[in-house]
Amino acid sequence: MIQIAPSMLSADFSNLREDIRTIEEGGADLLHIDVMDGHFVPNLTFGAPIVKALRPHTTLPFDVHLMVTNPADYVEEYAKIGVEYFTFHWEVVPHAHRLIQAIKSTGMKAGVSLNPSTPVSLLEDIASDLDLILIMSVNPGFGGQSFISNAVKKVQQARQLLDAVGNTTAVVEVDGGINLETAPLVRKAGATMLVAGSAVFGASDRADMIRQLRG
Ligand code: DX5
Ligand code: ZN
Repeated sequence: MIQIAPSMLSADFSNLREDIRTIEEGGADLLHIDVMDGHFVPNLTFGAPIVKALRPHTTLPFDVHLMVTNPADYVEEYAKIGVEYFTFHWEVVPHAHRLIQAIKSTGMKAGVSLNPSTPVSLLEDIASDLDLILIMSVNPGFGGQSFISNAVKKVQQARQLLDAVGNTTAVVEVDGGINLETAPLVRKAGATMLVAGSAVFGASDRADMIRQLRG
């Protein structure tokens, strides 16, 4: 079963409630929320207060992608809001195992995201602890960028790594440049959750786009 997580980054920031309603009615499985701090990535979006304000307005689970240098500082806050997946970047965390345990102890699911230049093999020793591996198929920071094709190989590697440790429940998610051309490639490689920002919010029929991305 493929899940589609539209990225709020491509929504109309002046009309988030309405845009979220259209994707919920259009059959989205989760809401992908890109939190950026202007340090880890060269862009700044929003933080926990906005995520909290949105929580009562949809029943979709929240898939929070933290592109910040200090994700550990926000675990409690996002847990209180009621977030499903708390995903941090491998590149900024020296004690990933500790952070994963901290996330899971709150009841949230723990995800690790890898930049295009970060190898999947680094996750070998935490593969059994993870609920989600997020393969970035663009350099994080902006919506609307082109898909970097080595992500296909990395999706396969992530799936193999999880299989090798018997972690059958963890999700392999792909984020960046997902559209009708690239979605089939990553689905075939073993991705089970696809993030799509510009493809969904830029579509004239969002429900149809979500259906087609799911395949
Ligand atoms: C980029 C974000 C993505 C972004 C994807 O840093 O993590 O979630 O919104 O946008 P598209 O689907 O337009 O590439
Ligand atoms: Zn994202």
